[in-house]
Amino acid sequence: MKSILKENPYRKDFPVLDQMISGKRLAYLDSGATTLKPLMVIEELDRYYRLETSNVHRGLYWLSENATNKFESTRDKIKTFINAPDRKQVIFTKGTTESVNLVAQCFAGKFLNEGDEILISQMEHHSNIVPWQMIAEVKKLTIKVIPINLKGEILMDEYQKLLTDKVKLVSVTFVSNALGTINPVKEIIRLAHKVGAKVFVDAAQAVSHIKVDVVDLDADFLGFSGHKMFGPTGVGILYGKAELLEIMPPYQGGGDMIDVVSFEKTTYNSLPHKFEAGTPSIAAVIGLGKAVDYINQVGLENIHHAVEELLEYTTKKLSSIPGLKIYGTADHKTSAVSFGIEGIHPHDLATLIDKEGVAIRTGHHCAQPLMKFFNVPATCRASLSLYNNQEDIDQLYAALVKVKKFFE
Ligand code: ALA
Repeated sequence: MKSILKENPYRKDFPVLDQMISGKRLAYLDSGATTLKPLMVIEELDRYYRLETSNVHRGLYWLSENATNKFESTRDKIKTFINAPDRKQVIFTKGTTESVNLVAQCFAGKFLNEGDEILISQMEHHSNIVPWQMIAEVKKLTIKVIPINLKGEILMDEYQKLLTDKVKLVSVTFVSNALGTINPVKEIIRLAHKVGAKVFVDAAQAVSHIKVDVVDLDADFLGFSGHKMFGPTGVGILYGKAELLEIMPPYQGGGDMIDVVSFEKTTYNSLPHKFEAGTPSIAAVIGLGKAVDYINQVGLENIHHAVEELLEYTTKKLSSIPGLKIYGTADHKTSAVSFGIEGIHPHDLATLIDKEGVAIRTGHHCAQPLMKFFNVPATCRASLSLYNNQEDIDQLYAALVKVKKFFE
């Protein structure tokens, strides 16, 4: 495969990169927070709002049928993209966070009982911690944490020790947003199933550059966000096994999720609509369809290769800065390099390198327990995607060296 480090043919697809920020070339290194959007996604959003606005599943006129067809075709594209057995297993949510909350409320809330256990890992993002805590409080469930090592890898032996028949649900991230660790989710699922536990996979940081096949993984539930895979904000996916989704109660009440409503009794719509109350994020769903087209057009393999190459270059380059420490050195990692520089607060660092046109994320990365584990208040994180190149990393490197000199 051709190297994208010096000549990256994909950059031209992303109009955000065509501008200077405060007089500097933009080095966008925050794709873990949100990816940039290719022109074909932006144009699709523009077309919907300019020419095709209408509601879905409600109108018998051309505009509404057109919007409904496009909306539903995104479901088909996602079905194929993640290899879901049936389109009814693809539920549109607001994003990964809502996908987790839905499973917490409608699966754990309905089927777990006092004393049952939920396992999550030490590296989880708040959205894969707090929804479980909220339902645990109501249902008197116990949450246990799977420990990790200093490289940022799940300790599989410890995980196996925690897996008793009290465990009813395991929820883990596929790729850590803060460390870039790729977790062995297939094995985690296999082991959980041996004790009869169901597994939720947070695939938000994986889906734009790693093949996610729900059948191969044997995932019970899997969630991800459109905006982290070159699509719009405000839309995400929940995949679930049909037999589980069928028996779960609805998440919210409202239009579209009903079958027959009377003041005495209401019956609910079939899947997937049972979980899609109210007018959805129509433009975002249609835009997400285009994002899937974009990924297919470029090829997931090519995206994966680009991210691998960038990760290797970034790790090497940043490691050469004296006093810089990388958090997260797992054997299997991807897309993110978290770091700190001795004696410089990460917030000062990010603010100063912003002046050099470099956009990175700084803070606890919505993973405060993980920061506590590493005994740091925050880290800086450079997160990589298809459109980055060597110049972006060199710009980050030069900015860091400059800031370091400033503090000496
Ligand atoms: N989860 C997103 C991030 O890691 C917001 O930045």
